[in-house]
Amino acid sequence: MVFRWQDAPQADFAVIGDPVAHSMSPRMHQAAYQALGLQYRYVAIHVRRGEVFAALDRLADLGYRGVNVTVPHKEEALLWSTLKDPLAERLQAANTIRNSDRSCVNTDLPGFWDTIADLQLPSKRALLLGAGGSARSVALALVDHGFELSVWNRTPSKALALTEGLGIVAHLLDRPTLAGAGLVVNTTSASLQGESLDVDWPACLPDALAYDLMYRPSLTPFLEDASREGLRTMDGRPLLAAQGARSFEYWLGIEAPRNAMLAAIA
Ligand code: ATR
Repeated sequence: MVFRWQDAPQADFAVIGDPVAHSMSPRMHQAAYQALGLQYRYVAIHVRRGEVFAALDRLADLGYRGVNVTVPHKEEALLWSTLKDPLAERLQAANTIRNSDRSCVNTDLPGFWDTIADLQLPSKRALLLGAGGSARSVALALVDHGFELSVWNRTPSKALALTEGLGIVAHLLDRPTLAGAGLVVNTTSASLQGESLDVDWPACLPDALAYDLMYRPSLTPFLEDASREGLRTMDGRPLLAAQGARSFEYWLGIEAPRNAMLAAIA
């Protein structure tokens, strides 16, 4: 069930976005509350462009403790907040707002890192596909953790704008190919459109990880291709759970039940 912000119910937490009906966050956070015996309510709220400030004001007035912010409102959420985490400022995007102090953070970047920090990757060479909003946090996480980054985007000028905007050093590619890649991250929405990308899989190292930020009930075309070529695969659900767990911890100051959250969206 999705509410209009003008009709937001009494609740404690929300995700706002446009669109937002597909969001698995309510299910995931409700599972966390249930696992810990907490009585909170988390709802999905549809907010159109241009309405973000009014909607966030309204939710604060209603007593919501925190709000997750998804596409395309992460920049405006940063502007609405009065206490901005430096990482959110660097990314120019906030996905988590806490109303008690009108502060914001970005949990997408550390959440992404959570999902790969403990993996044994065959090299620290990463190929990033895409240059949209989610590519920014992936690029910064990888560079900050010492990866040698190469970026391919269908529209090359946007890949250049991404690296220049973040102030990072990366190789810009005109084809999605990287010799010795240990990690290939797909942040494009090609998978949502059911399209494959022309990745040069044989150039990757054996045991490299193909990571698609998208998810759907079956493997995405990107992960299907990677799996056929013998790579390990991961879809976007662990990231959804990790960023959600970090939002939960930011709001409530207690450890999130990560396994219950991941199980709720599996
Ligand atoms: P998000 O915020 O989720 O990252 P976005 O900002 O709309 O979404 O970015 C979408 C990305 O997917 C872009 O890199 C886009 O490439 P362009 O910059 O050339 O538009 C990429 N993309 C979308 N559809 C694609 C397709 N069919 N093949 C390759 N790249 C695609």
